[in-house]
Amino acid sequence: MKIVAINGGPRKAKISKTTMLLEAFVAGCRRAGAEVEVINLREKNIKNCTGCYTCWIKTPGECVHKDDMKEILEIRAGADLEVWATPVYIFGPTAMFKNFLDRSIPMYQPYIVEKDGLCTHPPRAGSISDRVIISVAGFYEMDHFKPMSDWLHFIAGRGLGKIRAEIYRPAAEFMSAPPLKAKVEEILAATEKAGFELVTEGSIREETMKIIQQDLIPDKQTFLELANKYWDWEIDRWKKRREQGQA
Ligand SMILES: Cc1cc2nc3c(=O)[nH]c(=O)nc-3n(C[C@H](O)[C@H](O)[C@H](O)COP(=O)(O)O)c2cc1C
Repeated sequence: MKIVAINGGPRKAKISKTTMLLEAFVAGCRRAGAEVEVINLREKNIKNCTGCYTCWIKTPGECVHKDDMKEILEIRAGADLEVWATPVYIFGPTAMFKNFLDRSIPMYQPYIVEKDGLCTHPPRAGSISDRVIISVAGFYEMDHFKPMSDWLHFIAGRGLGKIRAEIYRPAAEFMSAPPLKAKVEEILAATEKAGFELVTEGSIREETMKIIQQDLIPDKQTFLELANKYWDWEIDRWKKRREQGQA
């Protein structure tokens, strides 16, 4: 099985919780024998879609921009499955990830058809590969993934790739907290297992998902206190550094 994993998180690997989960998931897919290519959008030169429709009219299937998106579309065309990974930014995906999707319109035909009562553009290649979604959010509640999940399901409903699994991890910034190391290791081990299960069984087991989505913090009040204490600590630290001429 050929898998392409798209990472739409702008932060560097060491601190990115999206990357932590994605790397674990990819490791599980590879252990199951899949061939996986990871594309970090932050390392790529991908210009914004200008809406010129050159890719639909003058050069069908080919964008007017000569940048890294051409190679990415070629890689995607040969994949059996895509992993879409993005942190939640303002209740949705990052702008970088959204731009990656906008720049994917050369994959679709200009013609408009009806799918389950709603308009859509059919894919050029006949079908679009299935996908797995991975996302992290700073906030505590799972509800924060709902707008993005609904949007992704709406896309899937237009015939543009089935969603095979969704891995959502709230309160994700706490994954860096040293006292939670053991829990985080458990979550990452389950995420690795999820990748293995997805490739070998076609889906992720409920018990595996439960471990990934377990509470990192015992309750919301504790989350609010700890998170706000952290911001105070950081703001204070930088103020002191400025006063000492170090920043
Ligand atoms: C511009 C911006 C917008 C954000 N918006 C949200 C949001 O709407 N909901 C949320 O739960 N977290 C939000 N966050 C927090 C991130 O989801 C969180 O820090 C996450 O860990 C970032 O992913 P990363 O660790 O892979 O970089 C936002 C962060 C930034 C920088």
